[in-house]
Amino acid sequence: MSDFEPKILGFLCNWCSYAGADLAGVSRVQYPTNIRVIRVMCSGRVDPNFILKAFEMGIDGVIVLGCHIGDCHYQSGNHQAEKKIELTSQVLGEIGLQPERLHLDWVSAAEGQRFGEIVTEFTNKIKELGPIANIDDYQKKAKLGGSIVDVSRLRWLVGKEHEIFEKGNVYKEQIDQDEYKDIIWQNVGAEYTKELICSAMADGPRKIRDIAEELALPKKLVFDYVTEMENQGRIHLVGFDGNIPSYTLSEGGGE
Ligand code: FES
Repeated sequence: MSDFEPKILGFLCNWCSYAGADLAGVSRVQYPTNIRVIRVMCSGRVDPNFILKAFEMGIDGVIVLGCHIGDCHYQSGNHQAEKKIELTSQVLGEIGLQPERLHLDWVSAAEGQRFGEIVTEFTNKIKELGPIANIDDYQKKAKLGGSIVDVSRLRWLVGKEHEIFEKGNVYKEQIDQDEYKDIIWQNVGAEYTKELICSAMADGPRKIRDIAEELALPKKLVFDYVTEMENQGRIHLVGFDGNIPSYTLSEGGGE
């Protein structure tokens, strides 16, 4: 193993994992000093954007620790955490970052030893993955991922996921979990493509045909997304070259 010392960020829930870390300290449990801790009231409070922001700032690995399932102080916070981490991992994979750099686990207030073991194991895993190779590219991708997880439709789908599986939809119908997850996947993919289209317009107005060629996407698909983003106010028409329209990004527009 190299002498690479990764920067690890830990989000620890106040009621269990933070107390577990405290117990590890007073019990003199040995674990790597790479971790820096942010105490949150519940693991469910960890927004996917916090994680993408950490990666954008050059953190090598993020670990989220909460109460064991069934022990959350706010009842379903750790279920929410599961869904949010699942989404964040999906987004990391989609944008070409390593989802292994993110880990969710459970540590109770009485598990100082377990806290030490989990942190040691995760730190070793990040050491094996090595430092981030191209930090500029990594930061750009993490920023793009941050835009994806901010989309209100995705946030709603993930925020409601646990409740919908527990209680059914508004008509009390049970929803197929795989179908629901597919919908989330499709939305992640669609938002990623839209972000790529926006990136292609970063330097000025573009035509649909040119964007489609640059991104190797079907023209019809780019047209559909451009129309959708135009309706959302994210981009707008700037003019015509002959009868071919050009679009550009709207300042601070849309989602
Ligand atoms: S209070 Fe610990 S996970 Fe919710």
